[in-house]
Amino acid sequence: MLNLTTIRSDTPAADQQLFLLSAGSSLPPRPVTAAMLDHLRLEEAVGGYDALEQRQEQQATIYSSIARLINAQPAEIAIVGNATLAWQAAFYSFRFSAGDRILTCQSEYAANYVAYLQVAQRTGATIGVIPNTPEGELDPAALERMLDDQVKLISINWVPTNGGLVNPAAEVGRIARAHGVPYLLDACQAVGQIAVDVVEIGCDFLTATGRKFLRGPRGTGFLYCRREMLERCEPAMIDHFAAPWLAPDRYQVRDDARRFETWENNYAARAGLGAAVDYTLAIGMEAIEGRCRELASRLRQGLAALRGVTIHDLGHAPCAIVSFTVDNMEAQKIVKAASEQKIRIGSSQPSSTLLDATARRLPPLVRVSPHYFNTEQEIDNFVTFCARVI
Ligand SMILES: Cc1ncc(COP(=O)(O)O)c(C=O)c1O
Repeated sequence: MLNLTTIRSDTPAADQQLFLLSAGSSLPPRPVTAAMLDHLRLEEAVGGYDALEQRQEQQATIYSSIARLINAQPAEIAIVGNATLAWQAAFYSFRFSAGDRILTCQSEYAANYVAYLQVAQRTGATIGVIPNTPEGELDPAALERMLDDQVKLISINWVPTNGGLVNPAAEVGRIARAHGVPYLLDACQAVGQIAVDVVEIGCDFLTATGRKFLRGPRGTGFLYCRREMLERCEPAMIDHFAAPWLAPDRYQVRDDARRFETWENNYAARAGLGAAVDYTLAIGMEAIEGRCRELASRLRQGLAALRGVTIHDLGHAPCAIVSFTVDNMEAQKIVKAASEQKIRIGSSQPSSTLLDATARRLPPLVRVSPHYFNTEQEIDNFVTFCARVI
């Protein structure tokens, strides 16, 4: 149940400012900070090794919590340092060769696209970009037409970094499964604001970060790898945790998703991530998603009524990332003016989503991302601020 009074009291900083930056790095609720401090204090008291020994059980439940959040099995989860590391672990586990094709989306994130370019330049694989529907979502029919024996991977984002677009992740999954093509889904901006069910989506890999809509600590992320895919892929890089050294000439890769982890980890940050996931689960993703959509649509309506404002979110049902420009006013200027009023918002640069920004001739965008802890009044206050500043 979404109890705003409790949620706000768990997030005291929400009353000290107008925080609309959850697509960047959100405000963690108190239990997240408490879990991290608890672990740090224990490390301070007994050292890192004994601290882990004492918190072994608590650490193990983080995998179950994440699994529950996305309808996976704990053995299908790896906890890593951020979404990019999770994505790289999945992507670089494929061995591409000349003529192979990687299909991606128009709204692809810079970190992922440069990895395609690197692999393309190294191996002779090629990159195909799936066209959009007129509404700006990835077009599943176009994807289906692009599939042939050369396609080795479909790799898209669910929600891009630069706006409210929600790509049809589950339709892509159905097509990928029907054609037997591996499917990597970047869900970095989706997890924590949209209910996720990896079985329904049908992806082989899904990547997420802790600090955004999940409200976890920085430097945390996770990778989901479907059990059947685990048997078919080996990490590009391994250590003796991912692959125990059994004899001088032999190692054996772990049979769970933790083959994508390393031996050493930040267990305080992991404790924070676990607390963030548990906090999200206790509220419930259905309630969170509903509220995120309500607040974002209220914000879009308010902004749309202002002269000189253009909203740039694509798709038929945009999520809680609201992107816009103001005539004759640079995004950075608005972000700065907001910051002076203790309003935390961000911007999105064309270089983060170069294909989309080039196709739509987008300048830097103002990016505002409400979350369930925001109030209707705060949304209205932000619209009032915009009306004053533009
Ligand atoms: C769509 C998308 N994918 C991936 C990432 C990378 O996430 P991280 O910074 O946790 O590695 C981001 C970050 O903004 C993103 O917006």
